[in-house]
Amino acid sequence: MPAMQNVIDFIDTHRRRFVDELVAWVRIPSVSSDPAHAQDVRRSAEHLATELRGLGAGRVEIWPTAGHPAVFGEWRQAHGKPTLLVYGHHDVQPVDPLGEWISPPFEPAQREGRLWGRGVVDDKGQVHIHAKAIESFVKTVGKLPINLKLIVEGEEEIGSVNLDALLHDHAADLASDFVCVSDTAMFGRGLPSLCVGLRGLSYVELFVEGPSLDLHSGSFGGAVMNPVNALAKMIASLHDEGGRVAVAGFYDDVVALGDAERKQIASLPFDEQSWLRSTGAPATWGEEGYSTLERTWARPTLDCCGIGGGFQGEGAKTIIPARASAKISCRLVPNQEPNDIARKLTEHLRRVAPPGVRVRIETLHGARPYLAPTDHPVYGVAQRAFSKAFGKPTVFIREGGSIPFVRTIADATGKPCLLMGFGQPDENAHAPNEWLDLDNYLLGIKSAAYLYDEIATMAP
Ligand code: BES
Ligand code: MN
Ligand code: MN
Repeated sequence: MPAMQNVIDFIDTHRRRFVDELVAWVRIPSVSSDPAHAQDVRRSAEHLATELRGLGAGRVEIWPTAGHPAVFGEWRQAHGKPTLLVYGHHDVQPVDPLGEWISPPFEPAQREGRLWGRGVVDDKGQVHIHAKAIESFVKTVGKLPINLKLIVEGEEEIGSVNLDALLHDHAADLASDFVCVSDTAMFGRGLPSLCVGLRGLSYVELFVEGPSLDLHSGSFGGAVMNPVNALAKMIASLHDEGGRVAVAGFYDDVVALGDAERKQIASLPFDEQSWLRSTGAPATWGEEGYSTLERTWARPTLDCCGIGGGFQGEGAKTIIPARASAKISCRLVPNQEPNDIARKLTEHLRRVAPPGVRVRIETLHGARPYLAPTDHPVYGVAQRAFSKAFGKPTVFIREGGSIPFVRTIADATGKPCLLMGFGQPDENAHAPNEWLDLDNYLLGIKSAAYLYDEIATMAP
């Protein structure tokens, strides 16, 4: 029997055990944003390292950072073959609102062919896909057909704040011919997808301060500026009537969508009505002149993610609040730069702030956007690999989300980056009731196995 068939048969035979092992990892609440879970993030790293050590790796290490640790593993027995660097993250998003989970987030449950729990798709399941593809080669063929390095970060969900230092300190360990990031989604059910673009991110927090304490609105109202009114006016100034961002210079560095890509995007089987239904929103909205997919993949945006200030309790309380604040994020496209956008946004907010309030703006984390060099042969090779696993042609897509690692590694090494993903757009990543389609998990393991096998045919 040819070697690849043995690998695929091994995956089918051990499917249930693979899921059980994923469940054990998902039980560890590796919430990176919450200091109370720091020990759990560490346990999650150790758990993965132990699993990888069982897979004949030459080296498995836990790499500490100033924050949460990363896990590194390498398999280098394919002399003369290319080296693939695979990236994922083992930290997860917070679980609140906890009351909306049908089954507890860290007690993974299997229902309807799905695995439910925090981190099942973002991103433990998608890291585990590679661990199990590696195992399937090691336990059948005896070794991998390529050299493989795996880096699994513990701080992706909090903006990968210590990643630059980590990549710098371990530049030699991470040297590779190709990079593969395993943290995106498929275009739709059963449709293998290769993601070729991600948006970036620039995030600021805006504080508006007025009186030193909440004032009686009868005695003081109308005679001092109300910070909540001021904040609302400032936020309202951020878009024009056509849905464009009204910050001066915001679009200066945006690379326009080409006709060829617009055609390709329009050719994808996108059902806008069912997409809209899945959001629950009453209508689509966005920048005039662009389709929904273009708006979410290839156009920059600005959104207020949270707002606070003033009286939030039951009933009426007559005050002029002392302060108000908002969290504002921009999704970026090539060639926008997070720091430049944060600066332009800051200038805009200062300019439109009405008199009578103090304004303070803090820049939170950012990420740079990515567009893959799809004329490189590795993209065709990856398409072929996924198509073999799924028995269907693989489509090129972009995604609107951000992964800081992608541009950092691409810029540092100049190597092409594959964005492979087996999530579904409706799997509730970051939301209550996150789930993973277990058929996709299985097909993901097979796709990873075919990917390694196909990359082995390439020159290093
Ligand atoms: N896996 C996501 C990125 C993603 C989202 C890919 C949607 C494809 C579709 C990643 O874990 C994530 O959530 N990233 C953050 C960015 C980070 C800087 C906090 C995001 O996009 O908000
Ligand atoms: Mn992720
Ligand atoms: Mn995420």
